[in-house]
Amino acid sequence: MENSSKQTQESYRFSVAPMMDYTDRHFRVLMRQITRKALLYTEMVVAQALYHTKKPNHLLDFDTEEHPIALQIGGDDPIHLANAARLAENWGYDEINFNVGCPSPRVQSGNFGACLMANPDLVARCVESMKKASSLTVTVKHRIGIDNLDNDILLQEFVDRVAAAGAQRFAIHARKAWLKGLNPKENRTIPPLQYERVENLKRNRPYLTIELNGGLTTPAECLQALKIFDGVMVGRAAYKHPLRWQQIDELIYKDNPQSITASKIIKNMLPYTQQHLMKNGQLWEIAKHFLNIVQEVPGARSWRKSLSFKAQKRNADLNVLLEAATQLEDVGL
Ligand SMILES: Cc1cc2nc3c(=O)[nH]c(=O)nc-3n(C[C@H](O)[C@H](O)[C@H](O)COP(=O)(O)O)c2cc1C
Repeated sequence: MENSSKQTQESYRFSVAPMMDYTDRHFRVLMRQITRKALLYTEMVVAQALYHTKKPNHLLDFDTEEHPIALQIGGDDPIHLANAARLAENWGYDEINFNVGCPSPRVQSGNFGACLMANPDLVARCVESMKKASSLTVTVKHRIGIDNLDNDILLQEFVDRVAAAGAQRFAIHARKAWLKGLNPKENRTIPPLQYERVENLKRNRPYLTIELNGGLTTPAECLQALKIFDGVMVGRAAYKHPLRWQQIDELIYKDNPQSITASKIIKNMLPYTQQHLMKNGQLWEIAKHFLNIVQEVPGARSWRKSLSFKAQKRNADLNVLLEAATQLEDVGL
């Protein structure tokens, strides 16, 4: 597959955040029905796993229509990360993103994710190594701080060091992470959002490219944030309310508006789903992502319930989706 990095210029103005178990390739294909332009991130792939596997396909494969797409990598070993960057380039990814923001204990025990914020030199070496190994854009996703390492000076020092190593963009989740004491879910809700800390950084380092992440829930909030920041990254609100974002190509990229209905999304994805089933995939792996495209309308709950029930059956086939789409069409959705 050919690298289409030209396509990604400024695609980071709006991106869908990496989310383990959520932003898999099927969800990304779904998001592509809603926005042609936004940058989509993969779930985190562990660099060590990529290094040791003989068959990286299941970790790396994606569909051409997912471009522009960034591969997110977790790790702490420059050799593993260089290998990941080479593979990412060969696979045709547009960018590679280094995870320095995940606070999960599993990730911490591997000494990567957010705990690396305490070690800017190591992060810098990892970034350098990825830069040397490929020509991809290398970006870093991180927090505003961890534990007691949490002030503007440390944040600025971290970003300066990592930018000097070649990181071309920073996606900053605007809350600190408490590595000891809070679980990952709590670390996405309990530490307060502090957009002003990221704003200070942008003011002091106007030449750096900064994506704001954390708590953005509507296109209007994103447009407001884009007055200050170079990009916005949306996670949970994109997964929970995919159709909410169908105006962003028009609003953010000044492209033709995407106008799509829930039934059309399902119908557009029938050929893709058929291919998945032909490769022995399960219907539910794709259908589960459709549950959130019908919301806040009468009958939404029972439609979701029926789809969940039927699509989880072992031999569920395309007819389940056809029926679900027809039900929606009948009521104009
Ligand atoms: C279920 C879930 C899984 C996540 N997995 C990842 C991940 O693999 N890599 C990462 O950098 N961040 C991960 N995150 C964090 C998100 O990328 C994002 O930073 C966070 O949810 C805040 O943005 P939001 O308020 O728009 O959701 C995850 C978040 C959720 C909710």
